[in-house]
Amino acid sequence: MGDDMGDTSDFSVIHSPAGDTLPVAKRRNAEGGARNGAEPAALLEFIDHHRGWLQDQLATRGAALLRGFGLATPAQFEAAARAVEPVLKNEYLGTSPRDALTPYVFSASELPPYYPIPQHCEMTFIKDPPRRLMFACLVAAKRGGETPLVDMRQVAADLDPAVRGRFETGGIRIIRNYGGPSGSGRFDLWQLKRWDEIFQTTDRAVVEAKCAAQGVFTDLRWGPGDRLRLISEHEALRAHPETGVPVWFNHAQVFHLSAAPAELRRIYQRTGELRSLALWRFAQAAVAAKRRFTASDEQALHCTHRGGREIADADLEHLRDVIWKHMIAEPWQAGDMVVIDNNSISHGRLPYHGPRQVVVAWA
Ligand SMILES: [Fe+2]
Repeated sequence: MGDDMGDTSDFSVIHSPAGDTLPVAKRRNAEGGARNGAEPAALLEFIDHHRGWLQDQLATRGAALLRGFGLATPAQFEAAARAVEPVLKNEYLGTSPRDALTPYVFSASELPPYYPIPQHCEMTFIKDPPRRLMFACLVAAKRGGETPLVDMRQVAADLDPAVRGRFETGGIRIIRNYGGPSGSGRFDLWQLKRWDEIFQTTDRAVVEAKCAAQGVFTDLRWGPGDRLRLISEHEALRAHPETGVPVWFNHAQVFHLSAAPAELRRIYQRTGELRSLALWRFAQAAVAAKRRFTASDEQALHCTHRGGREIADADLEHLRDVIWKHMIAEPWQAGDMVVIDNNSISHGRLPYHGPRQVVVAWA
């Protein structure tokens, strides 16, 4: 079969239980697996020769997995990402701690391994979110650590119409409370980075100018003890910029106070791991205390509908059930690369054991 010089890849599809699909291009190899060394050159060649296939997958399914090409370093990944999208971006306005490995390749998240990251399209809360997101796995975790994908067009279509209606009329209001340069370093899973870290300045006027340039903040307030509160509001759904199809495009399932226990419960149900059971119980108690003793607008991170009206717990639970139903959680293999249309497909992270290195680039 090796005589066809033009095509050394096998094409297949991974299915979610709900029937969502993730197309896969796997490098064909006599020994049944990619080897390190010259393989990343084959990936550049693949991307160049199958550009049409890749664009079709992104336009229809919204993502594609490129497997067996032996990507092994951040620099190789940057070259491959550039082969897909020549102009990469590196400004990061998210909430997850990240390290830069090349000017355009970052660790996907430095959050601890036990910490779940719920599904989200990247940076839904800014004016101009990335169009494309690319991940590569340089080291696969011993267990867990998947970067599950969900088609947020399917989520929008599958939501109970009454729930969807409440989000459509209520919108999303995000509350963030940051400490400042003099701030305390107390340990809190919900504590955001300090504002001087996020904005890379200790000058309040610069912070205000950067926020104004974002054009999404409806309220910016300096508080006692060097604190900064930012409020932003936007729609819960967004029309896909190319097709007009409605997409669930917000971070409610990530930023709402209930996120950690709600995710950990589902992870425990999926994996049966006692670590997730213990964390779920701990997070449940911690969130109950936060709800009881701290007002919504004082939470480190939370979201409500516009005007501060709380989102119904049952609506969030229904939303999470729909998201989990459409999840494709393919275990990483070292050397994998995933290309995502960020305007339609969300990503997350399941907890893991052992070393893991997943890197990200975007355009
Ligand atoms: Fe993300």
